[in-house]
Amino acid sequence: MDSLGLLIFAVLLCFQWTAAPATKNTTWTYTGLVGQSEWSRYFPDCGGTSQSPVDVVTTQTIYDPSLIPLTPLGYSQHGNNPFTLYNNGHTVVIELPQWMGLGGLPWLFTAVQLHLHWGSGDLSHGGSEHTINGLRADAELHVVHYNSDLYPDVTKAMTQSDGMAVLGILIVTGEETNLAFNNILNYLNRIRHADQKVSIPAFDVQSLLPKDLGRYYRYNGSLTTPPCYQSVIWTLFHERVQISKAQLLKLATFLCSSKADDDVTILLQDNYRKTQPLNHRVVFSSFSAESGKELSPGEVTAIVIGVMCGCVGLAVIVRFIVKTIRFFKLLHRETVMVNSSTSSWDVLPSNRPTSMSRMSQPEKANEKKQDMALNSTSEAEKKDESLPSPQTEP
Ligand SMILES: *[C@@H]1O[C@H](CO)[C@@H](O)[C@H](O)[C@H]1NC(C)=O
Ligand SMILES: *[C@@H]1O[C@H](CO)[C@@H](O)[C@H](O)[C@H]1NC(C)=O
Repeated sequence: MDSLGLLIFAVLLCFQWTAAPATKNTTWTYTGLVGQSEWSRYFPDCGGTSQSPVDVVTTQTIYDPSLIPLTPLGYSQHGNNPFTLYNNGHTVVIELPQWMGLGGLPWLFTAVQLHLHWGSGDLSHGGSEHTINGLRADAELHVVHYNSDLYPDVTKAMTQSDGMAVLGILIVTGEETNLAFNNILNYLNRIRHADQKVSIPAFDVQSLLPKDLGRYYRYNGSLTTPPCYQSVIWTLFHERVQISKAQLLKLATFLCSSKADDDVTILLQDNYRKTQPLNHRVVFSSFSAESGKELSPGEVTAIVIGVMCGCVGLAVIVRFIVKTIRFFKLLHRETVMVNSSTSSWDVLPSNRPTSMSRMSQPEKANEKKQDMALNSTSEAEKKDESLPSPQTEP
């Protein structure tokens, strides 16, 4: 072996030697050297075929009527012990007490923690992990649970295909401040740097969730961060939660992924993973397209009033048309009568029936009287018509 070959061999060996420990101890990030495109090199499950997050194409979801509303258990019984808020360098985490859980799945799931994903706060792009029809929301809340019916703890459960259940809540920004989120956001300045922890007053965790827990998407997926175990029964709620722009800005600009004693300060931003291919998986929905267009009581009232107004309007129009037709009929009859009593016979005497020619003068006078009588009756009818009759008034 020549010296060049030896050198190449040494270099390769060196790379081998430096790369090998990385699989044991790797600090992953969203971009950069161990960014998400490299995760699967160090965490093989990240290259699996049932990864999360995914893009939910609503027209390709399948309605499953067996998907019942989820029931948060004990979310509002937070007790007196404070929560722990933690910056782990990837996100902000609250560890949840073990009496909190989730009902409505085939097993009982016990709460572990909740955390958030967000963008950079400039609203040029969102920061949610799941997307709906390709659209990214501004942020996303995850409430993580493990299957406590089948597994003794989260460490055992997180590697099993039915081990975890995560609730995904899409967050959008609007004008109003969402006070529930201030239970977290008010303390971010105490955990600016990675590894910092702070005790915060316990609060009602359910107040972070949307009101409608009955409409959601369901699919089998993974943890969205290394080690990306494919162990998650995902529930992504249809209803979004709204926070203010100022609240989002706080979330996206307060925290650092660097530690307090690091030389450089790196903002903790854009901590969302790209959507992963579905690979033959099906996303189920707990609601059909029709029920998605279900009407609120306000809309129902509006429609009832609208229909009533329409009916009244139609009745008025029909009445007007009927009256108009009757009026013209009468007018036509009068004209014919007037013509018959005067002009037509005189102008066209040859048309006069022979029997009529023998009519005596008194007879003619009598005919005229009859005409006048008819005229006066039609006059009376006309008057009667123009008066609104109370019976037919709508
Ligand atoms: C990983 O390596 C870093 C330094 O490179 C060290 O601070 C850290 O404790 C290590 N973590 C583990 C789990 O070995
Ligand atoms: C998830 O996987 C399990 C086991 O393979 C299967 O029984 C279940 O129907 C799947 N659920 C969804 C929503 O695809």
